[in-house]
Amino acid sequence: MKSKKISIDYTEFNDINELEEDAKMLLNVARKYLNHAYAPYSKFKVAAAILLENNEIVMGTNQENAAYPSGLCAERVAMFYASSQYPKVPFKAIAITANNVSDTLKHPIFPCGSCRQVMLEYETLQNKKIQFILSGSEGKIIVINGIDNLLPFSFDAESLN
Ligand code: THU
Repeated sequence: MKSKKISIDYTEFNDINELEEDAKMLLNVARKYLNHAYAPYSKFKVAAAILLENNEIVMGTNQENAAYPSGLCAERVAMFYASSQYPKVPFKAIAITANNVSDTLKHPIFPCGSCRQVMLEYETLQNKKIQFILSGSEGKIIVINGIDNLLPFSFDAESLN
């Protein structure tokens, strides 16, 4: 028997102005689109902006449905759109932001398990780490490089062999 530990790396920023230029720009774009979310049921709006290797930016917001499970998270809307519009173009960074009913979410949100799984798929395909910029509608921002820091024990195509 052996106890083991996995450590994850992340960087915390107190303010958007502390971010490097690309990350700041991407997060600002995501925040601009928060109101495009269709979230009449949860009233929790999420926006994701992806910066692609070709410097295009692709957006997604959460899209809910009266049949709840038929809705989709902002991150997957953005990733599936990016991969459909620009197949195989690597993702450099994804900025994620959210807002609640009170219109001020001061802490970062983290992508759900299903979105992390999809992030893993694309990161594995491109063989290059994605930068994740996670925030609320204001306040502290967390930057994470590489999906292993979000999904340490994972199941990918290799696992099928
Ligand atoms: N949601 C996202 O869009 N992304 C996340 O990372 C977490 C949750 C959405 C799904 C649903 O529309 C609402 O937020 C409340 O769960």
